Amino acid sequence: MENIDINNIRKQKEAEFHDKVRKGVNENAPEFRSFVIRRRFYSITRASRDFFWNFLIKNCKNKNVLDYCCGEGDATFLLAENEANAVGIDISPESIKIAKERALEKKIAEKTSFLVMDAENLKFDKNSFDLIVCAGVLHHLDIEKAYKELSRVLRNDGKIICVEPLVHNPLFQLYRNLTPHLRTEWELHHILRMSQINLADKYFGKVERKFFHLFSLLAVPFRRTFLFNPLLLILEKIDLVILGLPGLRWWAWQIVFILSQPKK
Ligand SMILES: C[S@@+](CC[C@H](N)C(=O)[O-])C[C@H]1O[C@@H](n2cnc3c(N)ncnc32)[C@H](O)[C@@H]1O
Repeated sequence: MENIDINNIRKQKEAEFHDKVRKGVNENAPEFRSFVIRRRFYSITRASRDFFWNFLIKNCKNKNVLDYCCGEGDATFLLAENEANAVGIDISPESIKIAKERALEKKIAEKTSFLVMDAENLKFDKNSFDLIVCAGVLHHLDIEKAYKELSRVLRNDGKIICVEPLVHNPLFQLYRNLTPHLRTEWELHHILRMSQINLADKYFGKVERKFFHLFSLLAVPFRRTFLFNPLLLILEKIDLVILGLPGLRWWAWQIVFILSQPKK
């Protein structure tokens, strides 16, 4: 019983936090400026972004796709625009409201549906989806419950693509600890570690891992200069070598992993 309460409080806090942030950032409220500033780091993420979006575009046509914890629906829209039947779920009512409004603005409301739902208790039958997208969400959840639900609703020949930040680099952790207001308390303490990625092996027969962004972060201060593109290109090549090394790859900022062959 005690456990259920703790989990409910966590989910309530997640919903409240994301409701507040989405409203504040979209309305340009000054107290949410630091959330916008944080986006500067994402200027260097094209390698993981390209890998992630290309995978989705290649695999989504005419498929039933779930955008798991969809936020404002960016991935859901991309999927719908590429001929998928796309469903987005999120625990934050404000996120779902914004996603529905954006779908109307983009004139793809009939190709998408958005539902307020708890990712740890999905209201879908087993084997419902061919493809599932998890973009920056697993560290908001009880990961074992999430893997269990994802494995249940994925078809046997389906695939899940996840992109997540990693905890092992002390510099990235220092930044996170210095900016606690940018995330929920749960999130701060549950950025993914190697053992949690490896736990996926319990629920999926195949887990493919790819590591992104270490030295490429050095390009962030140059993002508005002519040096940015050539510098990022060089740093991405350095990342490719360094993050191929077993000892160092867990120091990457992000991991993209693909789950398939669900163990029911
Ligand atoms: C970092 S955001 C990522 C949103 C989106 N995937 C994206 O890439 O923009 C994490 C999302 O997880 C949602 N979330 C947190 N806990 C959840 C839960 N138990 N069930 C469903 N959604 C949840 C939050 O409301 C938030 O929108």
